[in-house]
Amino acid sequence: NQAQTDKEKQRAAAQALRWVSDGMLVGLGSGSTAAYFIQLLGDALRAGQLRVQATATSLASEALARSVGIALVEPRRGLRFDLTVDGADEIAPQLALVKGGGGALLREKVLATASDYLLIITDSSKLVPQLGRFPLPLEVVPFALPWVLDAVAQLGGAPTVRIDQKNAPQPALSDQGNLLVDCHFNSIPDPAGLAVQLQAIPGIVEHGLFLGLARAAIVAQGEELLVLRP
Ligand code: A5P
Repeated sequence: NQAQTDKEKQRAAAQALRWVSDGMLVGLGSGSTAAYFIQLLGDALRAGQLRVQATATSLASEALARSVGIALVEPRRGLRFDLTVDGADEIAPQLALVKGGGGALLREKVLATASDYLLIITDSSKLVPQLGRFPLPLEVVPFALPWVLDAVAQLGGAPTVRIDQKNAPQPALSDQGNLLVDCHFNSIPDPAGLAVQLQAIPGIVEHGLFLGLARAAIVAQGEELLVLRP
């Protein structure tokens, strides 16, 4: 149930604080689990236990970070993060991930790639034997939408344009002003192959398959904490 899931998210987020050490440059993820982490990091900074600087993967996380007193740094050349802490929508073996349920997949992948260590924090509902049950998000340039939908349908992805729930039937927009397309593959037996096919479609700015990026995942399962590695 929801209360149990929220507890798991908080416990995974609290555990992730132990990965942070003084002076680190930290990437801040998006979504509800990452939001718990940002709040706890803010608490630790205010308690004087740590000094860190950070960059966020979404405008929402940036606003939250600012509100809890985390010092933010702007993107610049040569900037590398010691640690990025982010959630996920699905975690499969080898720490293959689907991300982007919150629409922040592009900046999430940029920071994941600019990080020495990507740490994923989730509740136990995100663990799956194979990716694909959660619809795979794409960030798509509006002009290219019709052709992207055709191409994804041809790959068997049953695409739907994400709607802004607070503004239906308006489409949801990413922080970059692009559209979000959710692809219902149901199962993704070859994530690496699919990633190559999606990258070849013009107009897809980024897809939500995160392969070979996560170095560890903390998954809270009831009272237990699982630490998974690829
Ligand atoms: C945001 O774009 C996603 O990648 C999130 O990391 C994902 O949706 C996890 O969200 P929750 O922590 O809210 O489950």
